[in-house]
Amino acid sequence: MIEPYIINFPKIGNSVQGYISVAENENLPFKVNRIYWTYFTPESVERGGHSHYELEQILVAVAGKIIVNTEVISVVRHQFILDNPNIGLYIPKMTWRTMKYSHNAVQMCIASIVYDEKDYIRDYKTFIKNGNKRSPIQS
Ligand code: TYD
Repeated sequence: MIEPYIINFPKIGNSVQGYISVAENENLPFKVNRIYWTYFTPESVERGGHSHYELEQILVAVAGKIIVNTEVISVVRHQFILDNPNIGLYIPKMTWRTMKYSHNAVQMCIASIVYDEKDYIRDYKTFIKNGNKRSPIQS
């Protein structure tokens, strides 16, 4: 079982010039297929509430603060606080996740596969019950 973990990206620069962080395929746990970003999320809203059969992701708070709760195969739970643009959270397949955002948060998601609603498990009971079943997008 692979659990979520924090990735430290290179931080190039200094406090006078500012910084660049970089994510490259050779330093990531999967080959990148897609990048999207989430923003203007009200603080009262909890996003996520799903798992994926195949999708692996890295979440980066490029601005603001994101609190991510994860659960792998129903028992291993973690909370991560993303409040630094040079770190990312690797989320393996079959991980239930929820996210809360500060008002100024911008979340970049680096994704391993293209968007496919069939890859989602959006019902928690189904995640617990069917979590190890074969992906419907592989057949
Ligand atoms: P979802 O992945 O559930 O967002 P979050 O995990 O941040 O809560 O996606 C929210 C909605 O957006 C859902 O209806 C699917 C749609 N969506 C797309 O159409 N394309 C995409 O690439 C993504 C990521 C989501």
